[in-house]
This record gives sequence, C-alpha cells and structure tokens, in this order.
Amino acid sequence: AQVEQAEFVKSSVETEQCPSDGLPEFALVGRSNVGKSSLLNSLVRRKKLALTSKKPGKTQCINHFRINDSWHLVDLPGYGYAAAPHEVRTDWAKFTKDYFLNRPTLVSVFLLIDASIPAKKIDLEYASWLGQNKIPMTLVFTKCDKRKKKKNGGKRPEENLQNFLELIQKFFQTAPPWIMTSSVTNQGRDEILLHMSQLRNY
Ligand code: GTP
Ligand code: MG
Repeated sequence: AQVEQAEFVKSSVETEQCPSDGLPEFALVGRSNVGKSSLLNSLVRRKKLALTSKKPGKTQCINHFRINDSWHLVDLPGYGYAAAPHEVRTDWAKFTKDYFLNRPTLVSVFLLIDASIPAKKIDLEYASWLGQNKIPMTLVFTKCDKRKKKKNGGKRPEENLQNFLELIQKFFQTAPPWIMTSSVTNQGRDEILLHMSQLRNY
C-alpha cells in the first residue's frame, strides 16, 4: 500500500474540469487549517507536494495528485474559514459539494477533524451532510501529537476525539471508520494507506 510515485496533475474549480482518466480517488476534506495538505504530504512522503500554510484558506481549488499511476489523492479547500469574504466562501462550498455529488470515481471522502481542540458544530454538520447524501466517509483525526492546552479547554486529543465520536454516533447510530493521525510524527500514515487500498479493491 506504499506510495512509490506521486505527481501533481491539475487544479480545477469545477467538477467538469477534473481529470477524466477514470482512476479511483479519495478526497481530503475538513475545516480550513485542519491539516489536509500536510496529511497529503505525509502520505506521499514529500514535504511540499501540496502547499500548506499557518494561515487558513491556503488551498482554494480541487487539486488532483496521481499516485503510483493508478489512483488519485484530492486536496480540497477547507470550510468554515470565517475571515474569507462571504462570496468566496459560499463559492468554495458550492463547487466542493458539486464535486462530492457528481464525481463517480470518488471512492470515499476522508473527513479530517482537529483532535487538538474540542468538537466543532460545523464538523458535525458537514459529516451529517455527507451522510445524508450517502457519500462514503472515513474520519481522520489530525494533530494527535499536540499536548493539551488550557486554551483548548484542557482536553487531550484522545478525549476530544472520543467526544466527537459520541456526538456523531448519536446522529448516525453507528460511527464511521476512524483513524488517528499526526503529520508531525506521521502517526496513522500506514493505516490510512492500507484503508485506501482496501477500499480500492473492494
Ligand atoms: P487549508 O488549505 O487552508 O484549508 O488548510 P489545510 O487543512 O490544508 O491545513 P495545512 O495542511 O495547510 O496545515 C495548517 C497548519 O496546521 C500548518 O501550520 C501545519 O503545519 C499545521 N499542522 C498540520 N498538521 C499537523 C499535525 O499533525 N500536527 C501539528 N502539530 N500541526 C499540524
Ligand atoms: Mg490546504
């Protein structure tokens, strides 16, 4: 399940512009700054294949990366970035939602949740939207390397993710598969790649 080769293919702002080679793909989604681009770099063992930033709102397009010439990883813009002008924000939401609904090669969405902070309502709303639209989903908890901080409500990543799972379980009856990760220590990298290869061969 290892990544031997990874290359950037293209950036799109509409589903119709996305690659038409029919390769299966996995999309990384989540709030701005949750660590989508960093996780992609961790998965492919490259520091700067996907561009990252301390400031939210870095990724603004649907970015396709071809892996081992046989499948795609897709880096998407984040949601919930309050500092973005309203127009831009709704535009992102629109084209990413259209992408989820109209991309037959999309095998599963990987919804990233920041485990270093308490559960956010917007993440639950997003998860429920994906669920209602029958989009297969795996939860990925990010930043599990971070120690607890007073300003985070004093919770450890393990407690934050447990709270989130409980909330989501109430909504879905059962919780989707989930994986703990850190792009700093590369925790969860092999687990995600294995899960993706199982989903591709299903
Ligand atoms: P947008 O493209 O703006 O939606 O953000 P993104 O989700 O792609 O986040 P990005 O990967 O750019 O990371 C945002 C910030 O979080 C950067 O400063 C990263 O260094 C940091 N970060 C990402 N993953 C981790 C992690 O696992 N642990 C820690 N400690 N920091 C992380
Ligand atoms: Mg990004």
